[in-house]
Amino acid sequence: MDDLKAKYLTQIADAGDEAALEAIRLAAVGKKGEVSLKMRELGKMSPEERQVAGPALNALKDEINSALSAKKSALADKALDERLRSEWLDVTLPSRPARHGTLHPVNQVTEEVTAIFAEMGFSVAEGPRVETDWHNFDALNIPGHHPARAEMDTFYMHRAPGDTRPAHVLRTHTSPVQIRSMEAQGAPLRIICPGGVYRADYDQTHTPMFHQVEGLAIDTDISMANLKWVLEEFVKAFFEVDDVELRFRASHFPFTEPSAEVDIRCSWEGGTLKVGEGDDWLEILGSGMVHPKVLQAGGIDPDRYQGFAFGMGIDRIAMLKYGIPDLRAFFDSDLRWLRHYGFASLDVPTLHGGLSR
Ligand code: DAH
Repeated sequence: MDDLKAKYLTQIADAGDEAALEAIRLAAVGKKGEVSLKMRELGKMSPEERQVAGPALNALKDEINSALSAKKSALADKALDERLRSEWLDVTLPSRPARHGTLHPVNQVTEEVTAIFAEMGFSVAEGPRVETDWHNFDALNIPGHHPARAEMDTFYMHRAPGDTRPAHVLRTHTSPVQIRSMEAQGAPLRIICPGGVYRADYDQTHTPMFHQVEGLAIDTDISMANLKWVLEEFVKAFFEVDDVELRFRASHFPFTEPSAEVDIRCSWEGGTLKVGEGDDWLEILGSGMVHPKVLQAGGIDPDRYQGFAFGMGIDRIAMLKYGIPDLRAFFDSDLRWLRHYGFASLDVPTLHGGLSR
């Protein structure tokens, strides 16, 4: 019995893991283990022999069992120690260098446009996105029956029956900021108004919310020639080309007279847009001389002042300049897209430092 005890206690002490420990348990005190088999022999013994052997075997069994469980918890402690050591983490380390966020192309292009017009003396004006029906339409010489109201797919704000406050819409263009700026600042005036606008429309080049930039210059001696020069300077700077040909196409907008849509000469050779060369024309904006009724609505005397105005899609010129095929992706918040088309947030565009790098 002393031999058995010595054998198993040594094996237990040497066991390297739980599996080895279990094998020892089975060999010693399992149903067919050596100690169990010895216990079965008690039946064949004389009562005197049994009186000595019985308690001794039981004591041996107890001793082996408690050695097994002591070793088992020692092994578990060791495993935990090892795991804690391997998973050790220094929480005082500085954080991982963060992924830098990027500037959305709409913001980038807004900054670029703002930088270019700032150089020509235009400041930035803003207006509300929930706009009165009057500022969005009537003041811009678009009366209630005018087809432009229907064409614009306007989102109207809900009104309770009997509500007598002015009707509101989600502004369908940035042109109402012309009126708000005239009301607030009077003439002379030289502003651009970038911002979000809304129309119920959705396909590859239309989203229900998109961005425009409005331009407005009012003074006592403003002509279409000023408009042409300003737009030429803008297009050259924006598309970063030395020269570009503009085409003024007669058009109609209720808030300008005369009105012109402006195309720029370009080529689409090889599927990429090149501004300033080639035989294609690309429409980029609407413009004209501010209609006298619009000046009047803004509280400015049309007999003393004239002005030019233009409106341009920011998302559209961003797509053109940076070769982005689908407008809808602008507003999907897909991080892969944002990282691909985004701009470094600290590279503020300036005319001297470079607009896009
Ligand atoms: N508001 C027009 C639109 O959303 C764009 C526009 C055209 C603005 C001519 C102007 C302008 O200021 O003169 O389609």
